[in-house]
Amino acid sequence: MSAKPSVLVTRRWPAAVEAQLQERYNVSLNTGDQPMSPAEIRAALKNHDAVLPTVTDKISAEALDVSASKARILANYGVGYSHICEASARNLGLTVTNTPDVLSECTADLAMTLLLMVARRAGEGEREAREGRWTGWRPTHLVGTKVSGKTLGIIGYGRIGQEMARRAHHGFGMEILVQNRSKVAPEVLAQCNARQVDSIEDLLPKCDFVSLHCPGGAENRHLINSRRLDLMKQDAFLINTARGEVIDEFALAQSLMFDMIGGAALDVFDGEPRINPTLKQCDNLVMLPHLGSATRESREAMGFRVLDNLEDFFEGRDPRDRVI
Ligand code: DGY
Repeated sequence: MSAKPSVLVTRRWPAAVEAQLQERYNVSLNTGDQPMSPAEIRAALKNHDAVLPTVTDKISAEALDVSASKARILANYGVGYSHICEASARNLGLTVTNTPDVLSECTADLAMTLLLMVARRAGEGEREAREGRWTGWRPTHLVGTKVSGKTLGIIGYGRIGQEMARRAHHGFGMEILVQNRSKVAPEVLAQCNARQVDSIEDLLPKCDFVSLHCPGGAENRHLINSRRLDLMKQDAFLINTARGEVIDEFALAQSLMFDMIGGAALDVFDGEPRINPTLKQCDNLVMLPHLGSATRESREAMGFRVLDNLEDFFEGRDPRDRVI
């Protein structure tokens, strides 16, 4: 019987998935659960048949700077892969896979949570209640913004963007505007009575809420900058569950501090887990620590999807979620 392939997992995974991995492969776990350094990633590539990274691993050109890699696949745990340097991965001849679909609903649930929280000032209210500052009900207390029936702009109409539209349209009667790189099929738009506009510039001035669902990476770095924030309505809200780098956080902090938009809600940050200190001073901002896919169901399904991709790869098939 041939030896099991050896795989290195860069962070702890749900126990059920780690158990199955261990049945099928020779597994090295990063039991300390700390992000690995470029040198550790390089060593992992030299010593294992597969490396299983996730969003907190910077698989940069430096981390992929090995003369010969024993590993032939980076089976990423997560849908986004902008943390992996595509050019270097291609140079090394690595296959890269991700885990789409299985986290779309939960990530959209969290985007909706953020939208509701910022509109209804839930973060401010929670802080007030916990800190003993609540003085009782009154007609003018923490008055927020009605969500039902408003217009939601969705930037990036992939799987998660579409799930967000379903929730907003069918649950809250919201009107949906879409901006997407490619043309969205009419039947897909029709599911939420959505309308695609030509550009972000067309979308922003028309929306009461704007939710980002586009990929991260260099291409979309600071897609939302001060010029575009200025195009938003003064009482509109911005929600980001995509990637931190998509927003120029300095420009966002300025807009929030000078009440140039109604508020923002972020699940992701540029350079996370560090959070720009100016953002923390903004009361009209809700912040969560990258929880989009953080449900037991999604996190297990993401792990099993990695297992499917590995099985395809080691059995000589093209993995279903191959992105590189
Ligand atoms: C991803 O999958 O890309 C998320 O950001 C983590 O769920």
